[in-house]
Amino acid sequence: MEILVTGGAGYLGSVLVTKLLESNHNVTVLDNFFFDQFSLSSVCKFNNFNLIIGDTRDKNLIKSIIGKFDCIIPLAAIVGAPLSEKMPKLCKEVNEDSIKMICNLMSKDQLMIMPVTNSGYGSGKPEKIYTEESPLNPISTYGITKVNAEKIALERENCITFRLATVFGMSFRMRIDLLVNNFVYLALVEKKLSVFEGHFKRNYIHIQDVSRVFMFALNNFEKMKSNIYNFGLEDANLSKLELAQKIQNHINDLEILIDENRKDPDKRNYIVSNDKIIKTGFKMNWSLDKGIVELIKGLKSIKRPENFMNVK
Ligand SMILES: NC(=O)c1ccc[n+]([C@@H]2O[C@H](COP(=O)([O-])OP(=O)(O)OC[C@H]3O[C@@H](n4cnc5c(N)ncnc54)[C@H](O)[C@@H]3O)[C@@H](O)[C@H]2O)c1
Repeated sequence: MEILVTGGAGYLGSVLVTKLLESNHNVTVLDNFFFDQFSLSSVCKFNNFNLIIGDTRDKNLIKSIIGKFDCIIPLAAIVGAPLSEKMPKLCKEVNEDSIKMICNLMSKDQLMIMPVTNSGYGSGKPEKIYTEESPLNPISTYGITKVNAEKIALERENCITFRLATVFGMSFRMRIDLLVNNFVYLALVEKKLSVFEGHFKRNYIHIQDVSRVFMFALNNFEKMKSNIYNFGLEDANLSKLELAQKIQNHINDLEILIDENRKDPDKRNYIVSNDKIIKTGFKMNWSLDKGIVELIKGLKSIKRPENFMNVK
């Protein structure tokens, strides 16, 4: 297939693009390299890889290229609550307005597979299990723009959205602001984890499984289209404190401290059901424990953590 991946040089994109190319798809990445990242160096060797350095908000650019693609995977975004609160206007333009523009320029037959975030469930009710039908209650600018983008995308018939859990694992553009990655990094360098709002529950998913489910959706598009899927590990609806304790099982001298004063900016706290994606036959390969072992190896070499925190 001819596939356009906007934001393909990002944390998720650089891993997904590699997998798509290895499966012989023709892949074009459109990315403005917002973080000065050098994440696509290992895919330049592929003849089926094409790179456009540009902005996903550029209507003329999108108009001139979009017709040739069978499938569009829009990953370009201002990601995460802290960055979105720092640059709310840009966040809305990239995360929401550009999706609307792209959808308007796409023909009916072109496919779209889009990630959104399960942080759209917001601050959940205790013991309630959130399914794809549950009401949304996004709290951060990031969450709001992604919820709006999902609505826009699903007005098209040929669209699948994945409400991703917090992603973890190693990437060519590493992010250590994501909760599991962040905890493992801090556990390694400080031997101490200060946990605030430790009872807040979240769901988690490994970056390789995210790439795999995008490939799965491409291969099963007809069956899966016009649907939303929660995508996280069914056995990993864990509180932050439980996550810290899981990491402690791998790093024995880790001390866990409870911080009663600090507050979570995006207040996400919910238990998610991933039943719907599991019923399609998709199987996750990466457990939290397997990912923690990977991260312990991968994060040791980081010398300048500020370069991997998703800040500008
Ligand atoms: N990582 C997660 O846990 C997670 C969870 C849920 C959903 N998502 C979604 O997945 C997608 C990718 O997230 P990520 O974690 O890889 O983030 P990322 O910040 O690493 O990737 C975003 C990419 O978009 C590019 N970009 C930003 N503004 C652009 C613009 N105006 N034009 C072109 N490119 C631009 C950046 O250079 C970067 O390569 C996002 O849509 C995000 O909302 C991620």
